[in-house]
Amino acid sequence: MDKEKMDAFVAAVKDRTDILHVVQAYVPLKARGGRYWGLCPFHHEKTPSFSVVPDKGFYYCFGCHAGGNAFNFLSKIENITYFEAIKMQAEKLGIPMPERHSSKAELERDKEREDLRKVNAMARDFYHNCLTLTRLGTPGKQYFAGRGIQDATIAEFHLGYAPDAWDKLSRAFLQRGVPEELLIKAGLASPRKNGGGLYDRFRGRVIIPIADIRGQVVGFGGRVLDDSKPKYLNTPETILFNKRRLLFGLDRAHRAIQDADYAIIVEGYMDAISVFDAGVHNVVASLGTAFTAEHAKLLLRYTANLVFCYDSDEAGQKATMRALTIVRNTGANVRVIVVPDGKDPDEFIRKHGADAFRELAERARDLVEYRLAYVLAHVRYDTLEGKTRVIQEMAPVLAGIQNAARIVEYRRRLAQTLMLDEGVVSGELRRYAKMDFLEERDVRPAGPMQRPPARKPDDALEKAGRIVIRMVWADPELLVHVKSMVPIESIPVPEQREILAYIEKTAAEGGAPDDVQAAAALSEPAGEELARAIAGEDSARHVGTDEADKARAMQAYQDSLQALRNAYLEAQYMEHTRLAENAMREGNTGLWREETQKAMDFRKQKIE
Ligand code: UTP
Ligand code: MN
Repeated sequence: MDKEKMDAFVAAVKDRTDILHVVQAYVPLKARGGRYWGLCPFHHEKTPSFSVVPDKGFYYCFGCHAGGNAFNFLSKIENITYFEAIKMQAEKLGIPMPERHSSKAELERDKEREDLRKVNAMARDFYHNCLTLTRLGTPGKQYFAGRGIQDATIAEFHLGYAPDAWDKLSRAFLQRGVPEELLIKAGLASPRKNGGGLYDRFRGRVIIPIADIRGQVVGFGGRVLDDSKPKYLNTPETILFNKRRLLFGLDRAHRAIQDADYAIIVEGYMDAISVFDAGVHNVVASLGTAFTAEHAKLLLRYTANLVFCYDSDEAGQKATMRALTIVRNTGANVRVIVVPDGKDPDEFIRKHGADAFRELAERARDLVEYRLAYVLAHVRYDTLEGKTRVIQEMAPVLAGIQNAARIVEYRRRLAQTLMLDEGVVSGELRRYAKMDFLEERDVRPAGPMQRPPARKPDDALEKAGRIVIRMVWADPELLVHVKSMVPIESIPVPEQREILAYIEKTAAEGGAPDDVQAAAALSEPAGEELARAIAGEDSARHVGTDEADKARAMQAYQDSLQALRNAYLEAQYMEHTRLAENAMREGNTGLWREETQKAMDFRKQKIE
């Protein structure tokens, strides 16, 4: 009964929600060509590529591909959960919540979050007071002073100290009525192995509180004062502490990032603190994990310009290359600050000061420059093999440059550096341009090059999938037709498979696909893919009201389906050919004949 009430509530909110109204409260929009346009609030841009299609109930950004329904929009822009967005909209519309809303499990989860937040805030104050107000904090004070960190920065970041004792925090918190369980769950303490009681996770370490973007503490980092190991200890993963999604300092830095229109990304939180301390505020740190696509997305809300400043040692350079791989498809402009002589940003600033660091940031290398310097430093290019290797490594980066003059310039430089004829360089570049780059691999001294061309997701098939989804979304009965042409599992884009499976499931349950339920049921990438299919690239082109438009839409759908089918048939052909070859090698002529026949059958069905 609770569920029914809830569904009715959500349906009521949905019915009375106008996406245009919702979005316009945040983004000024102008009507043009059947949709409304404005500057995307989720990434930085100067010309509008963000659009709302009111009659479909979707928004979509052609720049950063963010998309979804009104509640997705609210949850993204307000940084709240999907359900919180529905509640927020309900409040605005004056629709009362059914009392005793969520399921027991949901309530428990909400409570767990709430408790974790509270105990984390308490712990932050405990460590901070310990550092600043008690004698126990003296070693911590000395440590920060030794690193040149000012009191104002200690206050700003609520830095702290965990005393060098077994259970100072646990005892104090248990006395204040915090349950043992919660201390363990928050990663602040562990049960003792022998006998009862707890011991503190952080002991004899300076403490760096780690907050989410709203400034709520979700975990801690603790650094030893000497050279013992591990140097840093972090809060273990909790429901609040997810390192893949957290960027240290973003809660303080996002305004400065927007103002400066670039973000500096450093490897460690001590680097971030040090850079901030020196007066450069547009800085964040990934938390000792690789930079992730989620990190990039967070930053792209504030700027399109990412400047990486990792350690200049070998590990840091590798981490930089890896980060560049992650961001290259996000639409970000990437530059790299190279800190001279093996230093990290913190050491550099302490030695040379903030102005020198700012200068480094101004002179940050663009991706090509950085890559070139890196490759030239790692490949011995005095042999022909080495030269080819350099070109191979550079080709994909150069292929990404839009500006023809710059390409020519780089080509000339490459030719000069390698002492090769420019024509030869051009030819080689073309040969390798299609390959993928920046894979997780080392640039080793010249060796045999046996890299198969990387498999790129096929753009045409990706689009075909969207067109098919768009039609099926409007008319779920078409799904039977789709399945008669292509098995869903053979569709190359996983998000599209997820959407089609969802439509099939709702149809089986006798419902029609519904964007509100879909948004709740689908994974985030699938939700965005759905918005892209329905309100994205050229979705307007084939969807109209008059008969000609309808015919065109149907034609596009059929062509798309055929393209997907051909790809499927081709894959089957290849697979059975492979099986036939295996059979041949094993001398199994019966199987060979069978597989060859199957392969041919698939191929014959292709219609170009
Ligand atoms: P670094 O070893 O480069 O530390 O690790 P750092 O930032 O220069 O620290 P200081 O200057 O010696 O104090 C970079 C980041 O990797 C993670 C931390 O997030 C750190 O900031 N890390 C490092 C760990 O999580 N555990 C470790 O034991 C070491
Ligand atoms: Mn350091």
